[in-house]
Amino acid sequence: MKKTESKTAMETRMIPIYVMGKHYEVPEGLTIMKALEYSGYKYIRGCGCRGGICGACGTVYRKPGDYKIYSALACQTAAEPNIHLTQLPFYPAPHVSCNYAGISAKAEEIHKLYPEVFRCVACNACTKICPMEVPVMDVIGYVKRGDISKAAHEAFDCIQCGLCVSRCFAEMPQYHIMQLARRIYGGKIAPKAKHNADAAKAVKIEKKFDPMLKQLMTMSKDELKKVYTSREIEPETAGDDWKPKDSKFLA
Ligand code: FES
Repeated sequence: MKKTESKTAMETRMIPIYVMGKHYEVPEGLTIMKALEYSGYKYIRGCGCRGGICGACGTVYRKPGDYKIYSALACQTAAEPNIHLTQLPFYPAPHVSCNYAGISAKAEEIHKLYPEVFRCVACNACTKICPMEVPVMDVIGYVKRGDISKAAHEAFDCIQCGLCVSRCFAEMPQYHIMQLARRIYGGKIAPKAKHNADAAKAVKIEKKFDPMLKQLMTMSKDELKKVYTSREIEPETAGDDWKPKDSKFLA
């Protein structure tokens, strides 16, 4: 090993962690997910994007001398010294299937599919454990009262990690209920976006992009790379009225 490499290794501070009660030493600064992997555990379920988006890695942990159960996304949260960890690959929460196209935009539809919403005892444990700070209990309240729009907006940040389900006294699958509210809102209540309809028309009916696609399909890999790297990119600070100089393929 070269001198510089051994120095770097010596400078890495190790911290103690406990996985299912067993002691391990891991480099400081790792996320909970990486600390578990460094300790020899393997993620087969409970890991997806590693970027805080997919919700697969919801987990709970404890700190020494503290009665609280903490919750987090394992891929987004740093392991602290003496933290007590485990893996939660999944918490059972069956999803109720429905003919989505055939249901109306009424909260009664959700009530029929998930009657357990009325078992909520307003303990707020679901809100407290949510790593995305979704006001889960309030969302269930909006669903009960028939306000699907409010429920959908308040549940926007839910990434379906399922930790709320693990804490619910009423044994309801909140994240499926919230997802259904969001789908009903998005599909049947929210105003339709005109620019989407225009773009779909340009693709399907006017076939505006067909010549460009045909042209691209005749190109070699190198030519495609050249076109891709030389394309005009929207500046980060562009306003809403920004348009590329070559706008012949805009819908
Ligand atoms: S792995 Fe996707 S949110 Fe953590």
